[in-house]
Amino acid sequence: MIRAFRGEVLSVSGDPRSDPQAVRHDTDALLVVEDGIVIARGPHADLAPRYGDVPVEALPGLIVPGFIDAHVHYPQTDRIAAHGEQLLDWLERHIFPAEKAFASKAHAEGVAAFFLGELLRNGTTSALVFPTVHEQSVDALFEAALERRMRIISGKVLMDLGPEGLCDTAAAGRAQSEALIRRWRGRGRLGHAVTPRFALSSSDAQLAAAGALLAEHPDVLMHTHLAENRRECAEVEARFPAAADYLDAYDRFGLVTARSVFAHGIHLSDRACQRLHESGAGIAVCPSSNLFLGSGFFDFGQADRHGLKLGLGTDVGAGTTFSLLHTQGIAYQAALMKGERLDPFRALWLATAGSAALLHIADRVGSLAVGQEADFVVLDPQATPLLARRTRGADLAERLFALQVLGDDRAVQRTYLLGDCAWNRDKT
Ligand code: GUN
Ligand code: ZN
Repeated sequence: MIRAFRGEVLSVSGDPRSDPQAVRHDTDALLVVEDGIVIARGPHADLAPRYGDVPVEALPGLIVPGFIDAHVHYPQTDRIAAHGEQLLDWLERHIFPAEKAFASKAHAEGVAAFFLGELLRNGTTSALVFPTVHEQSVDALFEAALERRMRIISGKVLMDLGPEGLCDTAAAGRAQSEALIRRWRGRGRLGHAVTPRFALSSSDAQLAAAGALLAEHPDVLMHTHLAENRRECAEVEARFPAAADYLDAYDRFGLVTARSVFAHGIHLSDRACQRLHESGAGIAVCPSSNLFLGSGFFDFGQADRHGLKLGLGTDVGAGTTFSLLHTQGIAYQAALMKGERLDPFRALWLATAGSAALLHIADRVGSLAVGQEADFVVLDPQATPLLARRTRGADLAERLFALQVLGDDRAVQRTYLLGDCAWNRDKT
């Protein structure tokens, strides 16, 4: 089936710092979609004669590619806004007790359904997701994502040094991961990530097993946390005295590759940045989480000096919002704490094509290019009285920046998956 959408379309297919041509904007565009795939995109005046007999839906607002959350924990949905601690105490006091409940498949199913609904109402169409240590927490998420036709990447959390009720073994973790990879490979828009929680929650034997899984399955990602919190970094240094730094503790087990996604990277040595660059691994930047847990501010200047691959994550439940639109605004503020002025188009790139490249799905999603899947969001610059007032008469960069700073789920008017409307703010 062929249909078309008409409206103002903006995408940023590459980092505009190095490639200003990556920003593509048409105030009156036609987006032509066949069986969920973009088959043409350009100014309406140019394309309309060619697609004269195709039904056209006019969309209000600003159309951008669906957001791609490069790091988020679905089991922490119900622990967002948990008061009082930095990372390690927050995990013990708030997070581990909540994750234990995912031993129940029914509980996991209920949270997965709410979580995916929250992604869609916030304009997020793809995500790299932490589940829990329980195999069935992955099944619950994948089943719900398959039903909704969302692009979700996940894999059982490996943690053989976890607390009771939230702990596997190196052998069981590997066997369950193998089973999940076999069970879910090639289904819908799902992808797999080998997911050791972080260096402190896996034994050497388990980190080695994670490396073996990666070597055996070249199509999967590796997803973990890196250098988020100072006390965490000190404990990693004490546990791995022979490692050059935190990243090197992972590297020794074959966990640093072009398919590795590390969340945070707040406290990185230049050596680690060099190694990240050389390996092609990248960082999911999670600014709302970094503020909430008092972890620090991501250093965009250092990352750019080393040419690091970057994407944007919410990291809910340490993150305080599911909105990657609002997270772009928080990223601006966090960057400024380190003296960097994050450009609004670059922030949009981080949340779309940047995250897509980090997650190795840039051939499918992220920039609404011809051949990509038609996942997109209709943003409403008049969503609130303040936004309407602030964006009146504003140019594109000002409108986008105001949406990032002042907007959230209220500014997401509609979310489309494969050309079908999956969320409509005004019809609920
Ligand atoms: N490091 C290890 N586990 C976690 C987690 O659940 N959230 C965050 N933000 N950091 C972690
Ligand atoms: Zn996290």
